[in-house]
Amino acid sequence: MAPIPKGGTVAVTGAAGFIGGWVVRLLLDRGHRVRACVRDATDEAKTAFLKAMPGFASGRLTLHSADLDNEGCFDEIFKGCHGVCHVSHVSDYNDADYVRRVCDHVIASINAAGTVSRVIVTSSIAAVISEVDVQELVKRPVCYEDRYPDEQNPKRTAERGQGYSIGKVIAERAFSDAAAASGEWDAITVCPGDNVGPIQSAHQKEMGPWQHNIEMMLLGEYYQNGAYRPWMVVDVRDDAECHVQLLTSVDVKNGERYIAWSTETRNVEDICASIDRLLPELGHDTPEVTDPFPERVKVREKELRAIWAGCELRNDRMRAVTTVRFRSMDESIVDCVESLISIGKVVPKLRPGHSVRS
Ligand SMILES: NC(=O)c1ccc[n+]([C@@H]2O[C@H](COP(=O)([O-])OP(=O)(O)OC[C@H]3O[C@@H](n4cnc5c(N)ncnc54)[C@H](OP(=O)(O)O)[C@@H]3O)[C@@H](O)[C@H]2O)c1
Repeated sequence: MAPIPKGGTVAVTGAAGFIGGWVVRLLLDRGHRVRACVRDATDEAKTAFLKAMPGFASGRLTLHSADLDNEGCFDEIFKGCHGVCHVSHVSDYNDADYVRRVCDHVIASINAAGTVSRVIVTSSIAAVISEVDVQELVKRPVCYEDRYPDEQNPKRTAERGQGYSIGKVIAERAFSDAAAASGEWDAITVCPGDNVGPIQSAHQKEMGPWQHNIEMMLLGEYYQNGAYRPWMVVDVRDDAECHVQLLTSVDVKNGERYIAWSTETRNVEDICASIDRLLPELGHDTPEVTDPFPERVKVREKELRAIWAGCELRNDRMRAVTTVRFRSMDESIVDCVESLISIGKVVPKLRPGHSVRS
């Protein structure tokens, strides 16, 4: 199907979120018209940063209330749109029927509009790398777009917190199947890595999880990452740029997925220490990373770290169809920390003699 045209209109779900907010900003920067979909457009704490964007004053950016749990929620909003970036979370990833139902709500509104030619579906690297049995990563260590988690493992249950990765796979397939059936639009999936970078609104510091984890480091508390997995990062601005460029690319086809990560990885203790290395003026009182895992996990630390170190992260496909050049994690950490302090009003734990300037 055709990419969206120059100046075309794009609806963005989850527009008040960390990634969605940047997708809105970059679309406006590229000259598009944007319909920002939030659950409550009157919630100033979440929407003031959108209303402060210059495109809002002229009317090029409009805000719309919609809850994707409700059938027909986007019918009016998508009418006349050329593209949709479906960035938003859903309320429950562990209930596969619910996930399919809310996908159907969005899909029905796309079909009803009759004007949409491209939909970008935000999935996750969880739908690439999240395994109940880490030995799967030893068997299949190359993390690229054709890799899916082992979906058949009997230990993969919602009770074990495996709903997110499979919920994302279900959503990816629901959209590409619906697009194929329609023949009128393409569904292209983005699988973002761990997003770090600047927040645009104070409420986003509690979301994430990655920017929230950096907030906690600033506050003097931080916990080891699950299964000692290193962060596999993408700057939130680069992730948004990937979304925007996939809307306008002539080289993508329905059903394709593209991973958005820089391929840089870093252990959590290194990230925590990076704050003081990168911003020595701040005087961050670097906390010890605490390890809350039970002994049976702790004894496997070396093995688990080695498995992750053996994984190969690839972003060849994203680089082939976009011009995005991924930022280094150091840049993302600096911008994240400064935004958490200046926009999020986080008061970091500092060494004696240091204070945050107001
Ligand atoms: N952050 C990451 O590192 C990361 C990594 C991989 C994938 N992703 C994916 O990227 C997407 C965005 O993540 P994010 O970090 O930007 O999340 P976020 O900051 O938590 O924002 C998600 C947004 O989803 C909206 N939302 C949740 N339930 C909704 C519903 N029932 N109806 C309508 N909107 C709903 C919320 O809207 P309101 O604020 O209006 O209530 C929220 O602003 C998600 O799909 C996530 O799975 C994120």
